[in-house]
Amino acid sequence: MKNAVILFGSPRKKGNTVELARAMSAVLKDRGWGVRMLYLNDLNIRPCQGCYVCLPGGVCKINDDMKDVRKYIMESDLIVYATPIYWFGPSGQLKLVMDRSIAFMDESYGSRIEGKKAVTLTTFADEDMDSCRPAIDIFRKTFDLLKVAYAGQVNAPGCQPEGGVRQEYIDKARALAESLA
Ligand SMILES: Cc1cc2nc3c(=O)[nH]c(=O)nc-3n(C[C@H](O)[C@H](O)[C@H](O)COP(=O)(O)O)c2cc1C
Repeated sequence: MKNAVILFGSPRKKGNTVELARAMSAVLKDRGWGVRMLYLNDLNIRPCQGCYVCLPGGVCKINDDMKDVRKYIMESDLIVYATPIYWFGPSGQLKLVMDRSIAFMDESYGSRIEGKKAVTLTTFADEDMDSCRPAIDIFRKTFDLLKVAYAGQVNAPGCQPEGGVRQEYIDKARALAESLA
């Protein structure tokens, strides 16, 4: 069985981003995948301290919930980065996990998660696609460095706080999941 972990970066469990995450999750589960959704906002994840203690062995000196996030990432074939766009980037909740992901690298810039796939799901209020581009650039460069294959993205514009996600983007999230499953 293949496994996916969803790094869910919105603080809102009934907001826009969850609609995309659920659409993907439903298709993957239908196809027999194990899917674990991690509500990062509920976890205790401290900011990276920049000490590089993790590089030789992959173990961070901070004893917090990133241990579990790490375990689920290691067990997964697919990592789904799902986030609202906050100030043109990923949410702080997701960025904390991304910073702590330096523990997936080793001293010679090798990757401990090489070969896994990643996809990204973003929602944002603006109708202008440029609003999500800085985030997509960050994702692309991050995945390059971690030697993770960027297997697709869905970026949903026009997502007002109470507005919901337009059906075409839900359909895109389902199609992306189908392309992977
Ligand atoms: C702190 C904050 C920053 C935001 N920054 C942006 C932004 O830079 N560009 C944009 O289009 N929307 C921005 N938004 C709107 C959200 O990205 C958008 O409403 C998103 O769909 C919320 O997702 P959620 O319902 O899952 O929380 C921001 C919202 C908040 C609360």
